[in-house]
Amino acid sequence: MTQPAVELSVDGASVTVPAGATLLRACQAAGVDTPTLCWAENLTPVNACRICVVEVEGARTLVPACSRVAEPGMTVLTDSPRVRLSRKLVVELLGSSVDMSRSAEFSRLVSRYGAQPERFGPKALTVAQPVKLDNELFVRDFARCMLCYKCVEACGTDAQNTFAIALAGRGFEARIATEHDVALPDSACVFCGNCVGVCPTGALVFKTEHALRAAGEWRESEQTVTDTICPYCGVGCTLSLRVQDNTIVRVTSPSDSSVTQGHLCVKGRFGFSFVEHSGQHKP
Ligand code: SF4
Ligand code: SF4
Ligand code: FES
Repeated sequence: MTQPAVELSVDGASVTVPAGATLLRACQAAGVDTPTLCWAENLTPVNACRICVVEVEGARTLVPACSRVAEPGMTVLTDSPRVRLSRKLVVELLGSSVDMSRSAEFSRLVSRYGAQPERFGPKALTVAQPVKLDNELFVRDFARCMLCYKCVEACGTDAQNTFAIALAGRGFEARIATEHDVALPDSACVFCGNCVGVCPTGALVFKTEHALRAAGEWRESEQTVTDTICPYCGVGCTLSLRVQDNTIVRVTSPSDSSVTQGHLCVKGRFGFSFVEHSGQHKP
C-alpha cells in the first residue's frame, strides 16, 4: 500500500515529500542548499560528518538531515544560530585535523560559515603520514582522509561487496585500513576503484592524477569531461572520461546512472591506456 506523502515546514515554507524521504530531500524541495560531506546519493548514510545538521522544533539535539526521515508536521530550521554555529565548528574541527585543501566543497563551507580552523592551533600530528604508493592504479594519501566512510561503504554492501577496507584503530589512531594494514595488492582488493570514485577529499586518487599534481601539471580548468559507454562488455556502463592534454586522467561514472549507480569494475575504471597506444606492435 502506498504511504501518504509527508507535509512539513522548512524555514517557514511548506513542503511535501514522499513517505520515507529524508529531511535533506525536504530541504532540497524547499530550495535550501544543505551542505553534505559524508553523504552521497549512491551510498547508505552513515552520519559521520554532521555538517548537514538542522534544527527540528521540539527536538533536544540537532539532527542530521541526510539520514533523518521527514515526519508530518515537523518544523525544520536550517539556518538558525544553533545550526550555523554547529556547522562552523564541524568545519573548523575538520580543517584543523585533516588536509582538506583539495575539496572545493569544503573551501566553500569555510567561507559560508566564516570558519577559522587555525584557531585550534597547528594541524594534528597524527595527520602527517607518507602517501601510500603500493600499486599501479591508485594512491592513498591518508593525510587527506576525513574518515567519512564513503570508501568503506563502496567497498562493502553498497557496491562492491569485497570488504577489503574498514575502519581500524580508535581515537587519534582511527584510520581506513586493509586487513592487518597489508599493502593493497596483498589484500582482498579487486581494484574496482569504487572507493576512489566516492572519496570527497582527494585522499584516494588515480596514480595519473597524483603524478600530475606532484609535477604541478594538474590543470583542472583546462580539463574536459566526456561521457561514453565502456567498450569491454555488454553491460554498457557509462564512463565519464576526464581528459587533459588529450590524455585520460580520471574515469568516473555518474552516480545517477541507472546502469552503474556511479560504480564501475577495474576494466572500465582503469583499463584505458589502450586509447593512447600508438597501435604499433613489436614483431
Ligand atoms: S578498489 Fe574496490 S575492492 Fe579495492 S579497496 Fe577500493 S572499493 Fe575495495
Ligand atoms: S579515504 Fe576518502 S572516502 Fe575513505 S574515509 Fe577517507 S576521505 Fe572518506
Ligand atoms: S552529510 Fe549528513 S552526517 Fe555527513
